[in-house]
Amino acid sequence: MSITVRVPAKVNVQLAVGAPRPDGYHDLANVFLAVGLYDTVTATPADGLRLTVTGPDAAQVPLDGSNLAARAALALAERAGRTADVHLHIAKDIPVAGGMAGGSADAAAALVACDALWGLATPREVLLSICADLGSDVPFSLVGEAALGTGRGEKLEPLEVGGTFHWVFAAADGGLSTPAVYREFDRLCEGREVPAPTASPALLAALREGDPHALAATVDNDLQPAALSLNPALAATLAAGTEAGALAALVSGSGPTTAFLAEDAPAAARIAEALTASGTCRSARVAASPAPGATVVGQDPEPDRDTVPARADQG
Ligand code: C5P
Repeated sequence: MSITVRVPAKVNVQLAVGAPRPDGYHDLANVFLAVGLYDTVTATPADGLRLTVTGPDAAQVPLDGSNLAARAALALAERAGRTADVHLHIAKDIPVAGGMAGGSADAAAALVACDALWGLATPREVLLSICADLGSDVPFSLVGEAALGTGRGEKLEPLEVGGTFHWVFAAADGGLSTPAVYREFDRLCEGREVPAPTASPALLAALREGDPHALAATVDNDLQPAALSLNPALAATLAAGTEAGALAALVSGSGPTTAFLAEDAPAAARIAEALTASGTCRSARVAASPAPGATVVGQDPEPDRDTVPARADQG
């Protein structure tokens, strides 16, 4: 028996960040949009907890207890009063440490996969609260589509999206540590009053109307100056995308992945090509949004898929 779950990456079309809280986190108005760039996580019964990863960035994924997918399986097993006897295989396509919630995505996918594999039928609110304990972005990876995240980003309110938005994502060399980017944000704000974060009504209207020009005029990421301060080379990538005709160019979350909003799918393809040719990024690829959250895409009832002939996945 194995369960395969597909889970999307995200881009923050608005990331308004407040002053640091006593617990070290920052209050946010975080407008999440799930994008059609996916990891898949396959859960198979095993003796103990095993983790394997494939994909271009696989070598950068930690395989120890710090891996969020492993922590998700352990948290669910503990709640169910059972052991986490599972092999989690992550087929990784979302950039690692890129500001696209790749680790959070794997955690949400592992949770859904283990829940199905172990036949737990855990209520959605309980899954969401386990997600929130694992990390601020994990609940959104579970629900996908578009949502406003408040608190530290974990309190979600679904948002309406009236069309398809076409994006290009440029991967940078190396990653950026999210805590380091928030620390840099605090440093850059020193001596200034940081206003309470609020979602932009114009941006929410642009999403509702599915209007890329209106969205481009309103996207805003308060972490962008901090990400650029830690990785100044990102400015050249942003400029190359703008020059190639992007309606908007911004750092995705805490970076260093950069996101470019395009007028339509052909424009996105042209921008991706120009970015790749510009030599200012490691790679560039297109993706559309919104995209569904963590979803079971395969259930293989065979006990050991290595010893039986290949069969089509169901579902
Ligand atoms: O919640 P998560 O573990 O993903 O957060 C990683 C780090 O990002 C936190 O330890 C904190 O430094 C920073 N963070 C923050 N405020 C948030 C979310 C994350 O300061 N709202």
